[in-house]
Amino acid sequence: MPTNQKNKIKFIDFCAGIGAGRFGLQNLGLCCVGFSEIDKNAERTYREFFGQEEKNYGDLMKINAKDLPDFDLMIAGFPCQTFSVIGQRKGMCDRRGQIIF
Ligand SMILES: C[S@@+](CC[C@H](N)C(=O)[O-])C[C@H]1O[C@@H](n2cnc3c(N)ncnc32)[C@H](O)[C@@H]1O
Repeated sequence: MPTNQKNKIKFIDFCAGIGAGRFGLQNLGLCCVGFSEIDKNAERTYREFFGQEEKNYGDLMKINAKDLPDFDLMIAGFPCQTFSVIGQRKGMCDRRGQIIF
């Protein structure tokens, strides 16, 4: 992390997508220390916006918390299909809905 970022609030970006959440927090002066995203095209776009510096920790369901860097705040735009009125609304009975845990 660059020295001018050291006193900033640090966040990690789970289910990062193309980074809309990160844009908001960075614009408020917070510092992203890493992200998690499994879609390669989303990651490509994310890296176009934010560069190569932060690590993609990959599948959120497989991350060991001990491998993560120190952070103050976590954001997660987790998949909403299983909660959506357009879907079958299985919520947490669907594996995708359990990612929140
Ligand atoms: C609603 S979108 C996220 C939008 C994002 N927060 C943004 O601001 O652009 C959900 C994202 O979660 C990702 N995702 C789904 N399952 C995942 C998993 N197990 N680990 C990491 N990312 C996952 C999807 O590939 C998708 O990009």
